[in-house]
Amino acid sequence: MCGIVGYIGNKEAYPIILNGLKRLEYRGYDSAGVALYDGTTIQMAKTKGKVADLEARVAKEIATSGKLGIGHTRWATHGVPNDINSHPHYSNSGDLVIIHNGIIENYASIKKELINRGYTFKSDTDTEVLVNLIEEIKKKENVKLGKAVQIALNQVIGAYAIVLFDRNKPDEIVVAKLGSPLAIGIGDEEFFVASDATPFIEFTNNAIYLEDEEMAIIRLKKGVKVRKIKDDSLVDPYIQELQLNLEQIEKGGYDHFMLKEIYEQPSVIKDTYRGRLLADQGIIRLGGLEDHIKKFTNAQRIIIVACGTSWHAGLVAEYIFEEWARIPVEVEYASEFRYRNPIISDKDVVIAISQSGETADTLAAIKLAKQRGAFVYGVCNVVGSTISRETDSGTYTHAGPEIGVASTKAFTTQITVLTMIALRLAKDKGSISQSDYMKHLRELEMIPTLVSEALKEEEKIKEIAAVFKDARNFLYLGRGYNFPVALEGALKLKEISYIHAEGYPAAEMKHGPIALIDEQMPVVVIAVNSNHYEKVVSNIEEIKARKGKIIAVVTEGDTEVKELADYIMEVPRTPESLSPLVTTIPLQLLSYHIALMLGKNVDQPRNLAKSVTVE
Ligand code: F6R
Repeated sequence: MCGIVGYIGNKEAYPIILNGLKRLEYRGYDSAGVALYDGTTIQMAKTKGKVADLEARVAKEIATSGKLGIGHTRWATHGVPNDINSHPHYSNSGDLVIIHNGIIENYASIKKELINRGYTFKSDTDTEVLVNLIEEIKKKENVKLGKAVQIALNQVIGAYAIVLFDRNKPDEIVVAKLGSPLAIGIGDEEFFVASDATPFIEFTNNAIYLEDEEMAIIRLKKGVKVRKIKDDSLVDPYIQELQLNLEQIEKGGYDHFMLKEIYEQPSVIKDTYRGRLLADQGIIRLGGLEDHIKKFTNAQRIIIVACGTSWHAGLVAEYIFEEWARIPVEVEYASEFRYRNPIISDKDVVIAISQSGETADTLAAIKLAKQRGAFVYGVCNVVGSTISRETDSGTYTHAGPEIGVASTKAFTTQITVLTMIALRLAKDKGSISQSDYMKHLRELEMIPTLVSEALKEEEKIKEIAAVFKDARNFLYLGRGYNFPVALEGALKLKEISYIHAEGYPAAEMKHGPIALIDEQMPVVVIAVNSNHYEKVVSNIEEIKARKGKIIAVVTEGDTEVKELADYIMEVPRTPESLSPLVTTIPLQLLSYHIALMLGKNVDQPRNLAKSVTVE
């Protein structure tokens, strides 16, 4: 994880680096640091804490001149988050300065060797080991920085996106990538490097996304040279035109990115199906799917791999695919799948779901599935991300940048994409009638309106949040399509409020969790109109009999659950198979308001990072 940013050009680097770090802070916020070079002196400031703490330290401690700069916001892997372990790191001579996102797995043996050769280390990080390995190679082999980086990277095992410069070369920075993302922005006589394109979007629309095992030497007057790390061969890089705009990455009047992203859902769900779903004409057309429909319809099985919230979207998809397309589906945690010697063949289709498109476990699961002959389809949000490039084909969710660490709009847009895929396959297979198919298309088109309706409950949800904000535990229950929503509701609460919460299939409650219920225990039950409605009502009775506090998500106009529940959150009537897109809304708002009332950092919850590029 970690966010890295660098600049070399004709402007003062510090404002660009600082602003870039603020935009990348979603990737990690344990500590931050910056190094600036004006051709004479390197200025460095580092601190435990957030980018705002760094900004305060810089103002007190260092001069900010220099047209070359690098900055880092850290999610700790090796070494506790403190000032010393923060990046950047100097090499022993003080000539080389590095920032790094990733893990060098064999750092301990390299460190030992370097210590034998007289090197000393200030920090506990693997990164300081890497920069000294580069220095040692540069000296010993008498090579230039780029060559030393290439030799060093062939000796390390692990993942990295690195940016470094040499005091003796004020017009050059060197970058390299394996497993962690790295974009190079190409401006007019200036260059930017960053973990994603957000730090440089107001300066240039042209970017190169380095591929794994590539490095680049960026020289002020000479431009960018990309090479393969393995054999030093030159690569002709593809310069991509970015579609991002500044508005998308700002809060737009909301107090938090999470709230903005919750409220964006009606419009981003529309963006997700725009041009792909033509309900009146009975058409679903997904660019990435068209050439591969037969792979899906002939598949003996679809295996969905993902992590966290994306895994929950996969669980919803399992219900939808099996119901409509009648293809067996298995949903796997990518982290388990990759180490399980799974049985996969070329008759399987694997769908990898990932908002960031960078999740290390999901990426490893994709590689394994491809090795074993499966066709791998990606459902990603971040355009140009590693997973979107590693998969055989795929569909973007078009949710726009999701910056709040807790996923909201990614979840609903992933479900929207997966629903479209399922419907398209069902039509091609003939596993649903034409009239049902047409009905579902029209229903999907109505979802943004229904989500807007659901958002209107916010004031009432705030009141419920005030009642339960001090609870120590929560239980979330749902059945069928809404079981994954219960899991997702519980995850949202734990992530941002640090209250322990469990999601369960409602009927499983009696097999264990019912023992937890007493008058202190809030139980959130998704009890919308569905095939399971009466069963869920019985579950609610069971909770009530044990004096649990019931907060129910109900269909507008419901009377039966309303009678039983202590509090209700109403959502508009929605067809059951599409209901997760709507029932998840009050649960997102409930977590948001509880976390806010508890004074938690909603957008940057402790210990988490937006893009999990370590296993
Ligand atoms: C939860 C959350 C995480 C991610 C998970 C997968 O709010 O954000 O659980 O869903 O880390 O991330 P992606 O979807 O980027 O692969």
